[in-house]
Amino acid sequence: MFNREHTDIKDKELIFRDLLSTGRSTMLALGKESDPICEFALSTAAGLEKTPRLLESRFLYDARGSEIYENICAQPEYYLTRTEASMLDRFAAQISRITGSVTLLELGSGNSAKMDSLFREFLEQSSRIRYLPVDVSSSALRQAGKDIRRKFPDVHVIGIHSTYEKMFPLLSCFSPSLILFLGSTIGNLDEQETIRFFSRMTRQMEDGDFFLLGIDLVKDPALLEAAYNDAAGVTREFTRNLFVRMNRELGSGIDLETVEHEAKYNPDLRRIEIAARFDRGQQIRISPLGRTFSVRSGEKIRTEISRKFVLDEMPPFLSAFGLELREVFTDEKKWFGLLLLQKTRPSTLKPIYDA
Ligand SMILES: C[S@@+](CC[C@H](N)C(=O)[O-])C[C@H]1O[C@@H](n2cnc3c(N)ncnc32)[C@H](O)[C@@H]1O
Repeated sequence: MFNREHTDIKDKELIFRDLLSTGRSTMLALGKESDPICEFALSTAAGLEKTPRLLESRFLYDARGSEIYENICAQPEYYLTRTEASMLDRFAAQISRITGSVTLLELGSGNSAKMDSLFREFLEQSSRIRYLPVDVSSSALRQAGKDIRRKFPDVHVIGIHSTYEKMFPLLSCFSPSLILFLGSTIGNLDEQETIRFFSRMTRQMEDGDFFLLGIDLVKDPALLEAAYNDAAGVTREFTRNLFVRMNRELGSGIDLETVEHEAKYNPDLRRIEIAARFDRGQQIRISPLGRTFSVRSGEKIRTEISRKFVLDEMPPFLSAFGLELREVFTDEKKWFGLLLLQKTRPSTLKPIYDA
C-alpha cells in the first residue's frame, strides 16, 4: 500500500497505467494536496451559514462512521442492503453476460461486500479481473481490500481514497469498464447535485462503458421511516457521530447530550430528511477558521437526505446524459431497482464546468 501526492491528472494517469500493468493490489490517495481538516472546516462553516443549515453527508464516514454504517446495514428495518445484495446474487450472471469482460469500478464502495457474486461471475469469464473501489473512507477501503484479497486472490484490487468528483477525470483510463453506484447512494445527492454528478461523470466515460445504478424506490412512508429510525438506535448513533467528529477535528465543543436524531419522509420531495435536533442552544466552534455559530434550542441541522425514486422515471432522465438502458432489475416487492446502462453518445445537456 502507498499514498502519493499528485496534483496533475496526467501524472495520475501514468501512475494508474503503471499500476494496472503491474497487477499489484494497492491503495492510492487522490487529492492529497488539500488539507482534510481544512476541507471539513470550510464545508461545515459553509453549511452552517445556509438557511436551513445543512452539513455535507460525506463527512459522516470517518472510520467510526463507516463502522456504524455497516451496523445499520445489518438492522432488520434497513431492507435496502439485504434487498440489493440478493438482487445482485440473482442477476450477476446476466449483468456479466451483457457487459462482457470489463474493469469493475465502484463509486462509494464502503465494505464492497455486495460485490462477491459479481466477482464470481466475472471470474468465470476471465482468470483475473480488476476492481477499483473508490471511497472517502480510507478505513473501509483498507478493510475491503484485505477481505477481497483473502476471498478472491484473482481480483486485482486498486483502492482509491477519493471523492467521486476527483476520480471522474481519470475514468477513461479504465475503459472498457462497468462503473457501479450501489446502495442508493445517489439518493444522498439533491436534484441539482444529481444533475452535476451525471453531467461530470458521463463527460469522462468512453462510449460503450457501462453503469450499474442501485436505487431505493418510493414505498409506504412507514417502511421508509422505520429504516432510518431503527429500534436499536444505530442510525441515531450515526448522526451523532458527525458531531463527535466535529468536536475531535474542529474543536466544536458541542454538548453531545443535546443532539437528537430525527428522520422523516418528505412526500413532496420524495426523500427521507435526516437532521440533528438540538434540545438546548449551543455555540459551535470551527476552530481552524476561528469562527463560532450559535444554534438555537429546537433548531435542526440537516445531516443527510435519502431520495426515493420511481423506476420508470429514471431511463428518460439518464438518457439525457447519453446513458441508454440495457436492462432493469427489481425484486418481488418492487422495493429496490438496479439499472444497467451503457454510454452510447454524448450528453444532450450543456456541460457543467467544475468550479
Ligand atoms: C450509503 S454508503 C453505501 C456503501 C456501499 N456502496 C453499499 O452499497 O453498501 C455510501 C458510501 O459512499 C462513500 N461516500 C460518501 N460520499 C462520498 C463522496 N463524495 N465520494 C466518495 N465516496 C463517498 C461513503 O464513505 C460510504 O462508504
